[in-house]
Amino acid sequence: MNSPQIPADRLSTYLEVAATAALAAGEVLQACWGKLESIVEKGRPGDLVTEADKQAEAVILKILRAHFPEHSILAEESGQYGDLDAKYLWAIDPLDGTTNYAHQYPFSAASIGLLIDGVPTVGAIYDPFHRELFCGAVGLGATCNARPIHVSKVDKLAQSLLVTGFAYDRRETPDNNYQEFCYLTHVTQGVRRAGAASIDLAYVACGRLDGYWERGLSPWDLAAGVAIVEAAGGTVTAYDLTGFDIRSGRVLATNGQLHAELSQELLHVAQIEPWSWLTR
Ligand code: IPD
Ligand code: CA
Ligand code: CA
Repeated sequence: MNSPQIPADRLSTYLEVAATAALAAGEVLQACWGKLESIVEKGRPGDLVTEADKQAEAVILKILRAHFPEHSILAEESGQYGDLDAKYLWAIDPLDGTTNYAHQYPFSAASIGLLIDGVPTVGAIYDPFHRELFCGAVGLGATCNARPIHVSKVDKLAQSLLVTGFAYDRRETPDNNYQEFCYLTHVTQGVRRAGAASIDLAYVACGRLDGYWERGLSPWDLAAGVAIVEAAGGTVTAYDLTGFDIRSGRVLATNGQLHAELSQELLHVAQIEPWSWLTR
């Protein structure tokens, strides 16, 4: 992805504000933990929203608007503010991993990304349960709790640990990632389904995981994590290695070493007879 030419000091400012907002949202997520009064399905079965999502989003919006009143915003719970094709668009997921959170499974984060000219460029992801703040800006590098992070060096799928997820439309489409999940579990050291796309991407960025793929995602799931993976030296594309398009909802993000092999396997499994690979 070609990142726009923005002076480093401006990128740093965007990153600092994103980090401040993610930490503030994390405080809300901690305060509401275990005390939810309202958990409702938004549309599709399993797609939940709670008062924690809404309160965390309000806190993030307040901080971003105070600093960048001229920027556009796309926020998961309250929608769109300004033009989605604007030069600066913040994509906000106030609580990524709502299902985990609602079940008190402590694996969720606040995720805040900045698209510049449509390209994920700056990201901050805060996981309050592990007290980990992942930050990155393309060209400036990436950090976890202010320490530099980098993608892993694993260069064979057979030696890799991957992660993926399943979208809320999984009951409605045969393109539900089930076959890919089972096949890649078969040919790697493992595939995790942790339930928070932003943390999946952050873990690829810091080398805990070697690769991630998923479909059916929204820009707020992806913006921050994609920027952080790229800032940490990773590669992000479409499944077929063409340019990443945040509106496609599909992502392939790896340490770079595994990228071509994982792409090949994803395309391969989509074309063959279900379960025919079990004999491999
Ligand atoms: C979801 C999580 C999950 C992914 C889903 C997302 P939400 O976000 O990131 O890991 O598999 O596709 O929608 O609803 O918890 O913000
Ligand atoms: Ca999400
Ligand atoms: Ca969410």
